[in-house]
Amino acid sequence: MATSVPRPPAHAALVVRSLPSASAEEREKILEDVEYNVFAFPAGLLTCDFLSDSGTSAMTDVQWAALVRGDESYGRNWGYYCLLDAFRDIFERGTNRHNVMDKVLAGKTDVAFYQTKLLVSSKGGFVNGGRHQLERPNFFILPQGRCAETLLFSTMSAMIAEGYGSHLEHDKPAAIISNGFFDTTGANAAVAGFNLQTFTQPGLTDPFPSALIGVKNNFKGNLDLAATKAYLEANPGKVSMILVTITNNWAAAQPVSMANIRGAASLAKFHSIPLFLDACRFAENAYFIQRYEDGYADKSIADIVQEMFSYAEGFTISLKKDGLANMGGVLCFRDQGLFAQRYEGIGMLLKERQILCYGNDSYGGMSGRDLMAASAGLYQVTDQAYLCHRITQVQSFAQKLQANGVAVLSPPGGHAVYLDMDQFFFGCNRKLEDFAAVGFTIELIKKYGIRAAEAGPFGWAYDLKPIEERSKIPNLVRFAVPRHVYSDEHIDYTVAAIKDLYERRHTVPNAVITRGKHMKLRHFSAGLKPVAVDQAINDSFLGEASRQLRHLSTATGQDAAAAEELIQALALVTGEWGKTAVPKQLDTTRWTSSVSNDGSAVEYSVSIDQGTGKAELRFLTEAQPLENSWAHLVEAALRANQDIGKSYPSIVSLERFDAIRDLFLPPSSRREMKLAAWHSCAWSTSKGPQWKIYLDPCAAGKESATQTAREAFSRLGLDTGWRLIEGLLGPNDHVIYFSLDLASNTEEARVKVYIAHGGADATSRAVVAEVAQKHASICPDADAFEIQRFFAAMAGDEFGRDNSSNRRKSLFSCFAFSGKTGERPVGTVHFPVDAYAADDAEVKRRVDGYLIDVGASVAARERYAMVLAAAQRRPLSDGRGIHAWVSLKQRAGGKMDNTLYLCPEMFGPRGAF
Ligand code: F0G
Repeated sequence: MATSVPRPPAHAALVVRSLPSASAEEREKILEDVEYNVFAFPAGLLTCDFLSDSGTSAMTDVQWAALVRGDESYGRNWGYYCLLDAFRDIFERGTNRHNVMDKVLAGKTDVAFYQTKLLVSSKGGFVNGGRHQLERPNFFILPQGRCAETLLFSTMSAMIAEGYGSHLEHDKPAAIISNGFFDTTGANAAVAGFNLQTFTQPGLTDPFPSALIGVKNNFKGNLDLAATKAYLEANPGKVSMILVTITNNWAAAQPVSMANIRGAASLAKFHSIPLFLDACRFAENAYFIQRYEDGYADKSIADIVQEMFSYAEGFTISLKKDGLANMGGVLCFRDQGLFAQRYEGIGMLLKERQILCYGNDSYGGMSGRDLMAASAGLYQVTDQAYLCHRITQVQSFAQKLQANGVAVLSPPGGHAVYLDMDQFFFGCNRKLEDFAAVGFTIELIKKYGIRAAEAGPFGWAYDLKPIEERSKIPNLVRFAVPRHVYSDEHIDYTVAAIKDLYERRHTVPNAVITRGKHMKLRHFSAGLKPVAVDQAINDSFLGEASRQLRHLSTATGQDAAAAEELIQALALVTGEWGKTAVPKQLDTTRWTSSVSNDGSAVEYSVSIDQGTGKAELRFLTEAQPLENSWAHLVEAALRANQDIGKSYPSIVSLERFDAIRDLFLPPSSRREMKLAAWHSCAWSTSKGPQWKIYLDPCAAGKESATQTAREAFSRLGLDTGWRLIEGLLGPNDHVIYFSLDLASNTEEARVKVYIAHGGADATSRAVVAEVAQKHASICPDADAFEIQRFFAAMAGDEFGRDNSSNRRKSLFSCFAFSGKTGERPVGTVHFPVDAYAADDAEVKRRVDGYLIDVGASVAARERYAMVLAAAQRRPLSDGRGIHAWVSLKQRAGGKMDNTLYLCPEMFGPRGAF
């Protein structure tokens, strides 16, 4: 039977450290003192530090016990032997470990132990033994990973210069192919004269279905074997090594599959070049293989590690990661293997350089105690329960962020969560050279005492790179999770802090470099400064609407050409007026359009299919009159109509409009002027642009609205349809709009009538039930339950209050007739959500809740989030009005679409009621 009890905890804390309590103001002063460089911020003043997972592990009690047993003798202390044998155990012996370290820990190290265990002569493998280690050393202890890299690449390069590496053509710089070089690895190889070829499997940033996280993994860290093969074939004699980084830190901590390592090994073998591993996070990688790769579920981590390394000629490793140690690194290569043959005598040369730079081979810059702690760490890090806890923690960190709407690179990798900063700032007007992601990391320290590192345009020097290289630069912020340090409480605090900054993203500052722009690895040393972002709109009406349309177009999944077509369409209707600057405040002396909430003369709408998440984007606008008079309004509307007819001759027909025009555009209007005509344009991939005109049935007088609509329906040959509508109209129902597709395709062109259901406010149960009933009675596809469920969800807590003394906006119904639908209409219900929610955050909660309740697809829910992010220019909780209306349309087969009517807020949000 399924149980809700989670997996048992994998460890408990025995030593604790209190965290500082510093205020945001205090941290801001310190940030100023360190020139806003997050690397330079004092760790002791932070609450959570996600700068690196390297050397930051909390050691286990077993490691501490081992550390106490450490011996600081200069030559051949216990730590040396323990580390050598730990490497044999972990990387070569699979489950058949010798565990000699246990004896050292137990203090049982007599002569026999040395003779039978520690000094035994052995050949082959990454750690030969006994005298062979003196004759032809192949195992080198170093202070950390990068020292192993320096030693390896500089020595190889010196030997190549002297004619070693017989497989290489010596007149060209040799290449190293990798699935991803860590920055020091790449820098060390480049300094040694190697030419770097990075072939990461394509698709790193491709979306990954959130439902599959923890179920499947597509090993995005893999080496691109096809590209590697092609390069090897095109460059014979120029490749000195294939270096596979596991997991791939360059590619967002993504794992590499066993099949990929095997494939790399076979390519390397075919071309007689060595395959090396950058093995910093080998254990985490092994866990991914066990969990997600076919055929490995029943294998132990020990066996998987053994197989991974069986394909390699050698490896470098920083023990600061999957050594669970705070310090240490190793370089080793297969005794008498291909690498040793290619560079004959390299072991001795490496050893000379090791001694020269770091210390003799017994310790290579590490203390005896650190050697013991790292040896114990290698065993502990391959423990199944530990790895499961570790990878699950990082995964749940990522999932919690996703659940809060924050985009992360997915599926999450091994040691870190990466925020996708393009998505984070989507719709916020940030250019890559604004370094907004750095602004985010500064803000995160200031406000919450949490440190993360930008891995994007600042770190990768976007501004200094040639244009063709810029597109390869990712825009990420890395939260590297230290091992064994943080609990769910820290993760939850961090998720809440990131969520808060995400909600306030429009006001997160950008950053400028104040010093050290041209320095190498400038993120460590440059001075920076946060810069507040200017929220004012400094553009024309059309310019600003175009910006929003482009974002909305991306959010609806259209290609860039679609956005440009919609923008052209908008330009056509708005004409010269569209080119005028948006004033700081709504100019009430001019015509104030009511197409949108705040007087901006445009409203956007996006309809989303609840099943597929497919969306259609439209705008609604009003041609602006030169003066505030009915005659000018009509003139502007007719001019727009003509322009549309002329510009879209093959798809637009004004014939039906001409047949009813006199009903809606009389010589003078008898009511308070509201509109002469509005125009909307929708764009869909299948149909391209589709124009529609909205007319006011009350133009000739409110009392004759029904008569006007009846006549219009009649002239358009829809008498039967109208009778259905008129049969529904009760004393509180009013015909409020009439609209017409301006399409030449008569079969598809729709006639629509909009009814306002007055008499009580829109949260009234009685009104809601009545409207649902009316739809069910005439629309073949309407389901009264679904309509009531929709209205109840949109009304939220206010549903059922039925407070007619507080009457606000009414519910609307729309009924659409076309040749295709026959005599019965397709119905849509509209809820005026801006009038019944304190702010847009509340509306979002209701829409999200509704979509979950009706079982809408994840794609539909994500589409809604993205569409809203594209439209908003402020935190949702700052006011109401971005969401103007939300509608529900029911189609054949129980299919349902929701449309969001979004206000551009060129003149700011509406305040409280
Ligand atoms: N290789 C990889 C894949 C690494 O991630 C690192 C370090 C190194 C080599 C160098 O090892 O630090 O011991 O000299 N990565 C750390 C990080 C610094 O934060 O990702 P080192």
